[in-house]
Amino acid sequence: MNTKQLAAEKAVESIEEGMIVGLGTGSTAYFAIRRIAERVKEGLSIRAVASSQHSEDLAREWGIPLVAFDEIEAIDVTIDGADEADGEANLIKGGGGALLREKILAHHSRRMIVIVDESKRVERLGAFPLPVEIVPFAENLTLRSLKELGVEPQLRMKEGVLFRTDNGNLIADCRFGSIDDAAQLERRLNLIPGVVENGLFVRMAHTVVTGYGDGRVTMQD
Ligand code: A5P
Repeated sequence: MNTKQLAAEKAVESIEEGMIVGLGTGSTAYFAIRRIAERVKEGLSIRAVASSQHSEDLAREWGIPLVAFDEIEAIDVTIDGADEADGEANLIKGGGGALLREKILAHHSRRMIVIVDESKRVERLGAFPLPVEIVPFAENLTLRSLKELGVEPQLRMKEGVLFRTDNGNLIADCRFGSIDDAAQLERRLNLIPGVVENGLFVRMAHTVVTGYGDGRVTMQD
């Protein structure tokens, strides 16, 4: 079992009968969704809400009952990956472009469990370029405001064209380097008109489950 799968399967043990479960996005969340589907086949009764079209498609294909964002009031537990996680469970997310829906899920979750392999654990956030979701119709003005924060934002491309999120927006990847005050940066970014959301998740995760190459899995609450 690889390190992502180790973390994912450990986290799925926390899901209990009757829960509303938030499904993350990405290659680590994939293993969680697959394990949840196995438990559903074994008789577990849950409903899930997905953070991306891709995760929704996986859940549907594997027989996990789905519920729409609009039909729920709260989520019992969300299991999601991250691009970086620091010692206080602050995160950078959005490498897969699903950060807006992921943050909505995390905000409304009684418990957010982050699943990572050891390569994602960092002393301080920021080596991974911070994804910032921006509206497409004012991209140049919004990029200019981002540059005022001292970065050179790169519009994300996919297969030679601008990457679009599930919400029809663009992603500007911003290399801040080492981030001293993630909470302040998260607020400053979201104050820029044209920024929809950014990939800093500060004090949102309750538990970080980490898979290690030697087979160990740790759970940090
Ligand atoms: C999706 O937008 C992201 O937030 C992912 O959760 C994050 O990029 C981690 O993805 P992997 O598990 O594929 O590394």
